[in-house]
Amino acid sequence: MEKKNLDWENLSFAYIRTDYRYVANYTAKAGCWDEGALTEDDKIVMSEDAGVLQYSQSVFEGLKAYTTKDGHIVCFRPDLNAQRMYDSALRLEIPPVPVEQFVDGVHKVVEANAAWVPPYGTGATLYIRPYVFGISPVIGVKPADDYQFRIFTTPVGPYFKGGAKPIYVRVTDYDRAAPHGTGNIKAGLNYAMSLKAIVDAHEKGFAENIYLDAATRTKIEETGGANILFVDQDNTLVVPKSDSILPSITRRSLVYVAEHYLGMKVDERPVYFKEVRDGNFKECGLCGTAAVISPIGKINDHGTDITLASGMEKMGPWMTKLRETLLGIQEGELEAPEGWIHRIM
Ligand code: PLP
Ligand code: COI
Repeated sequence: MEKKNLDWENLSFAYIRTDYRYVANYTAKAGCWDEGALTEDDKIVMSEDAGVLQYSQSVFEGLKAYTTKDGHIVCFRPDLNAQRMYDSALRLEIPPVPVEQFVDGVHKVVEANAAWVPPYGTGATLYIRPYVFGISPVIGVKPADDYQFRIFTTPVGPYFKGGAKPIYVRVTDYDRAAPHGTGNIKAGLNYAMSLKAIVDAHEKGFAENIYLDAATRTKIEETGGANILFVDQDNTLVVPKSDSILPSITRRSLVYVAEHYLGMKVDERPVYFKEVRDGNFKECGLCGTAAVISPIGKINDHGTDITLASGMEKMGPWMTKLRETLLGIQEGELEAPEGWIHRIM
């Protein structure tokens, strides 16, 4: 199979149309998802009154396909994305896509777009975007009757410019998620309401926003598109715990990597922003599918800069080890725990 002629090393995190996408439909009349199929058609025709357009009834996922060192194409823990989208769907009264159908759709769409999967060693990956939305008309506030499930792919480079270089972020006064709200699911609505904060952050020179808990504004939640990790002075990986953050698959994998590959202690608990101010942590990073691990060098707290010991020049030693071990597992250089790698071809 001949690869597409792209400048793989210099891709940014932006949409490029690939050849195939997967589409399945659910109708209230049938009461189930159809078997789905690949199509080359990237356009969607729907009612002006579709549930997704009026009341934002949509949930999505994000995962990546990699070319391994020995030339296979694989993706990372797609069953966990499938389960998370299932859970997200239930929260928005969307009929959930069965886990097996999600994984099968991912498999088919990556296989069909194999020419778009970046070669090993380029630093680029094929980003996979599954999503479900209400497609039939609704005017009273209620769930749609009919839904569409689609998966497209797009080759991407690093989410933050400079890849693994430390970033400068700020604490924002906007709230991301209320207690008992939708912060723990991956719904488009959580991202729509973060746009004002991210546009403002970028204008002021910050790469991301750190959100605090909405109820007390004392605890670290996460950023707009990634979970947060810390390393304390005893080299323990400290992981903020909250019911209103997205259960990141990267974070859950890194907790395992820290304990089982790197011999680190892991402490998952509420983390107070005061601990950051008091200098209790020497390293900090963002983690997620798009971000992988991006080190945070400096945090702006309402005009006051807090510089992590690892600084703005380079990634700290623990974040480096975590990042390299995770990438090594994903790219087939290190042995993966059972079930983590789904081989496409
Ligand atoms: N938190 C938010 C708000 C996200 O959008 C993402 C991205 O998916 C993550 C965390 C990281 O989750 P994952 O590691 O499953 O990609
Ligand atoms: C991902 O990491 O997959 C995400 O969905 C984050 C998004 C903000 C690009």
